[in-house]
Amino acid sequence: MSDNSSDHLSRRDFVGSTVAAAAAAGLLPGIDPAATVAGKERMIGVPFERHAKVRIGMIGIGGRGRSLLHDLLAIDGVTITALCDLVPDHAARGAAMIKKAGQEAAPAIFDGTDTIWEQLVTRDDIDIVYIATPWNWHVPMAVGAMRQGKHAAVEVPAATTIDDCWTLVKESEKTRRHCIMLENCCYGYNELLVLNLVKAGKLGTLTHGECAYIHDLRSLLLSDEGEGLWRRYPHLQHDGNLYPTHGLGPVANYLGINRGDRFEYLVSMSSLEAGLTEYRDETLAPNDPKRQERYRTGDMNTSLIKTALGRSIMLQHDVVSPRPYSRINMICGTRGTFADYPARIMIEGQPEDDEWTGLDGYKEAFESPLWKRMGEIARKLGGHGGMDFIMNYRMVQCMREGLVPDMDVYDAAAWSAPGPLSVTSVKKGSKPVDVPDFTRGAWRTKRVVMG
Ligand SMILES: NC(=O)c1ccc[n+]([C@@H]2O[C@H](COP(=O)([O-])OP(=O)(O)OC[C@H]3O[C@@H](n4cnc5c(N)ncnc54)[C@H](O)[C@@H]3O)[C@@H](O)[C@H]2O)c1
Repeated sequence: MSDNSSDHLSRRDFVGSTVAAAAAAGLLPGIDPAATVAGKERMIGVPFERHAKVRIGMIGIGGRGRSLLHDLLAIDGVTITALCDLVPDHAARGAAMIKKAGQEAAPAIFDGTDTIWEQLVTRDDIDIVYIATPWNWHVPMAVGAMRQGKHAAVEVPAATTIDDCWTLVKESEKTRRHCIMLENCCYGYNELLVLNLVKAGKLGTLTHGECAYIHDLRSLLLSDEGEGLWRRYPHLQHDGNLYPTHGLGPVANYLGINRGDRFEYLVSMSSLEAGLTEYRDETLAPNDPKRQERYRTGDMNTSLIKTALGRSIMLQHDVVSPRPYSRINMICGTRGTFADYPARIMIEGQPEDDEWTGLDGYKEAFESPLWKRMGEIARKLGGHGGMDFIMNYRMVQCMREGLVPDMDVYDAAAWSAPGPLSVTSVKKGSKPVDVPDFTRGAWRTKRVVMG
């Protein structure tokens, strides 16, 4: 993750704000200042073109790619036209899944080299490219797809440097293609229900959120297959939050980030590193080459983000401690508070004054229509309790009906940016670091969150 600021963008910002000011003053008739930067429209509120069928090419058919494929194959109107993986066996496993699901035409297969995906993205039978590869490939693959006229759906985090966040924004605007980060946690049952409570004003004026990615990945990180082949390396390089988006996405949605508020600055602090080293030394043979590695990522990283409207967010990352999984998923307002793991809520005036209650009393009125309609099949398919299916279903629905996607490239950039920014802040002794405004002022315009 590079340590870079948005200083080099100051001229572009200036030009953008000059154009916006001219537009606001009526000098550029017909141009909405909130959707314009240096003469180029943003990708905010841009609907998909309608697709009778959604044709999908997939790059990366490992653990996550197969899980996405499993869901996509259960959705009406989807054809998987091409698959790509560096490892031929992985691509073949995907092809076998497609055959078993009964898709008539076999997908085109691209495998065997780490650049063969460049051939997949040039095909003319693909509307959107799903990307489920290791983190360092997300940006080149998304950019390659968009430059070839395809929308890009990229796994989390979309980018791991601030420069790369800007690259995604720039390329999406230039190519007029969407770049959507596949942040499945935004589609969780509780997350969508709480979002509806927030939209209905049940929690009052929102003031504070807390979120995290707390997941014991020690054995996975040290494995000799799957994510163990690449996901440990950032632990050798960076001290900060390596995986910010699962916790942050839903809380950003509650707060309307990029839709009336924005992340303004962040401070970050890491604990010492101990967990991965101790676990490695206890579990691996003395001659295992991993015994020579020196991990830099502190076991617990805590960041605080301040928003333009004055709200605060605590964001944590810990993937090496023996503790139960949690994304915290807490949101607090002047009339109530929700916190997850386990799910509990307190709303002012409820019969159980000053006590948490479960969500049951709120399900009838506030359950997401997506879960009402598709919850049964989502739960049956399983992926992360069903939220993966709901996300994929919704993506396909937006493409088939020509709707504006729930999440856009500005969300991908804003939710990924706390990764590299936390590294910068930790390096500077927890000093505040500005979060770039990837919307360049358009965040001020209130928009509906998620549909
Ligand atoms: N949203 C979620 O809940 C969730 C869950 C797990 C993983 N992920 C994300 O999904 C992505 C993939 O993770 P994973 O668990 O599937 O990892 P994995 O290692 O199991 O799979 C990655 C696949 O990409 C392939 N690959 C690597 N380089 C390639 C290249 N240049 N061209 C083509 N194929 C290439 C590998 O051969 C492998 O099959 C990561 O970004 C991860 O963060 C997200």
